[in-house]
Parts: sequence; C-alpha cells; structure tokens
Amino acid sequence: MKGLILSGGAGTRLRPITHTSAKQLVPIANKPILFYGIEAMRRAGIEDIGIIVGDTRAEIKAAVGDGSQFGVRVTYIPQDAPLGLAHCVLIAKEFLGDDEFVMYLGDNMLEQGLERFVAEFAAARKAGGAQAPVAQILLCHVDDPRQFGVAEVTSDGHVVRLVEKPKDPPSDLALVGVYLFDPTIHDAVRAIAPSARGELEITDAIQWLIEQGKPVRHEVLQGWWIDTGKKDPLLECNRLVLEVLEPRVDGDVDGASQIEGRVVVMAGARVVGSRIRGPAIIGADARVENSYIGPYTSIGNRCSVVGSEMEHSVVLDGSAIRDVKKLTDSLIGRNVEVHTSQQRPRALRLMLGDDSKVELES
Ligand code: DAU
Repeated sequence: MKGLILSGGAGTRLRPITHTSAKQLVPIANKPILFYGIEAMRRAGIEDIGIIVGDTRAEIKAAVGDGSQFGVRVTYIPQDAPLGLAHCVLIAKEFLGDDEFVMYLGDNMLEQGLERFVAEFAAARKAGGAQAPVAQILLCHVDDPRQFGVAEVTSDGHVVRLVEKPKDPPSDLALVGVYLFDPTIHDAVRAIAPSARGELEITDAIQWLIEQGKPVRHEVLQGWWIDTGKKDPLLECNRLVLEVLEPRVDGDVDGASQIEGRVVVMAGARVVGSRIRGPAIIGADARVENSYIGPYTSIGNRCSVVGSEMEHSVVLDGSAIRDVKKLTDSLIGRNVEVHTSQQRPRALRLMLGDDSKVELES
C-alpha cells in the first residue's frame, strides 16, 4: 500500500500565517502538523509516500527531505493550482500505479492511528468477494457539518450519499481527511466534473463509485479529529497533543524557576526566574526570563519570552515577546516581535503573521 499526502492548497483561513508559509508546517507541540501524518503512515507500515505540493513546495521539501528521517521514501508531486482533492489523485496516477493507497489531508490531525483503519480495509477486501469494498472512508460526528463533506448512512450501515459542504446536511457525519482507495478511484476522478467552487471534489468521486454500485465501506472515528485550518481548532489541537506529551527537561532551568506538571524544555533552552505551568513546551534554544508560561502553550525554537505572561497560545520559531502582561488564545508567526511599553490590565488575543512587529503603548 502507498500513501498520498495532500500538502498543496492555499490555506486562506490561516492567513496571515500562511501568506508566508505552508499551513501544513505550522507546529503542534513544536512539530509540524504534516510530520504527524507521515509518522502515522510509517506506523501503519506505509513506506512509499507521495506528497502533493503547491506554491509552498520549497519549504515543504526543505522540512521533509527525502523522507529518510521518518524511515519512508518521499516522492513530490507538484500541483500548479489547488484544483481539488480529486485532482490530486489524477496527477498522482503515475506515482500510485495500480496500488491501493491511503490518502491523507496534510492539515488534518487525528488521535487514532492508521493501523486499524488499514487492517480493516484489507480484511474486508479479502472477505468480500464480489462485494469487496473499493474505498473506505472515515466519518466523525460533528456539531456543524456544513463546513465539511457529509455522509448519509442508512440504518443498516451503508453509505448512500456524500455531499461537499452542504447548506442542509443530511447527517452530522463529516468526512475525515483520511481515505483508502483501490485503483477503481482513478476511473472515478476521470469521470467527474468540477464542482460549483471549481474543484474536482473527492466527495463527488466517491459518490460516483457509489452510483456505479461499488461498495464503499465506512468507519466512525474513535478519539478526536481536528481540521487545523483555522486558529481556534489549531490551538485546541495543540492543547490535546500537549496533554499527552512525555515531560522532560533537556534545557537549563535555574533555581529561581518553577516547573509544574507536564512540561517539556527542549535542548539548549534556558528558563530563568520563571514559572512554567504545564502542559507546555519550550523549544530548543529558547529563552524564558522572568515570565509565566501557563497551560496549553507552545513556545517555538529560538524564541525569547521576557517579563511576560501567557497561556493557551502557540508561538512559532524565532519570535520575541517582551513585557506583555497577558497573552492568551494567540497564534504568533515566525520571527515576530511583540512589545508593550506599559502593563495592560486586559488580556491580548493576537494572530500575527511571520515577521510582524507589534508595539503597544497605553
Ligand atoms: O478536513 C476534512 C475535509 O477536507 C472534508 O470533510 C471535505 O470533504 C474535504 O473536501 C476537505 O475539505 P477542505 O475544504 O477542508 O479542504 P482543504 O481545501 O482545506 O484541503 C485539504 C488539504 O488538501 C490541505 O492540506 C490542502 C490540500 N490540497 C487541497 C486542494 C483543494 C491540495 O493539496 N490540493 C488541492 O487542490
């Protein structure tokens, strides 16, 4: 079985962060979202992975390389414009050949590994005879299905209809960004036409399979799933991952500092006269001085946080936060500088793109 990870696309919803960088490389607990997907594939025994890349291809190639750091082989498949998820399958045909494959959306994070999902597809195909599934989808009950692909499943467990971002959803079962296909999907992606939003939708391709009488299996997800494409789900995902991180201190923490709960201090980091209350992670070569870092915070590599208080926030590599008395629910890009000249009574909630400079005076 091969893997296909989709890491092209525009990332409009995470702007301004994604004006300058790939949304799939935004870190969760200081590790790019995309790496979690590659690692999940590797754990499921998939070693041959194609990655669809768009405008941000140079950055993704620089981070992932040839895949050897993950124990996989990576083939990059360039996509000139984000023409849809089914378009990605179309252009990956040469890489995929006639193999079965798992398709994984590079901005999705799930708690559940891929092992069981893959094993159940294999078992169902072996047992199925003429009724063997040609595809398997993963579904999750959600509060607002209108922003996803949505499945209609009969009471006896058959997927009968799939619709992309419906105004009037037929159920609360959203399509999670993990799909399994056999080569029949190549006929489907060739048969469909672009949707109203101008994309070749994978949802329409799977609907085509259903209409051809091909069995499509589904599973309902165990554990959490987050489409990280917006700030609040991204912070929530960071919270969930930090909650299960193994605490360790590889950097320096001075005697005047306190570390409480689940905290990772990466190598080369220095914590001076500060209190870190986990779950939290302090990146490699970061400096935290006379500050309070509260729960659910990730401080990136080479950041400095001085005389500040923050919680429930993600700060990307190389940023400097100085004299900010309370920063919360914030997503701060790379090499950003935030400075307040006077203590402010109210909390700051910020979303700042790479290289921003913010000076607040009161
Ligand atoms: O997250 C789950 C949802 O993902 C599903 O419920 C929907 O059925 C599915 O269409 C998809 O919807 P989104 O609108 O969230 O997809 P998005 O445009 O965010 O793209 C998902 C990933 O695929 C993202 O990492 C970018 C990449 N991509 C996207 C397009 C349209 C590509 O690599 N090429 C593309 O042409």
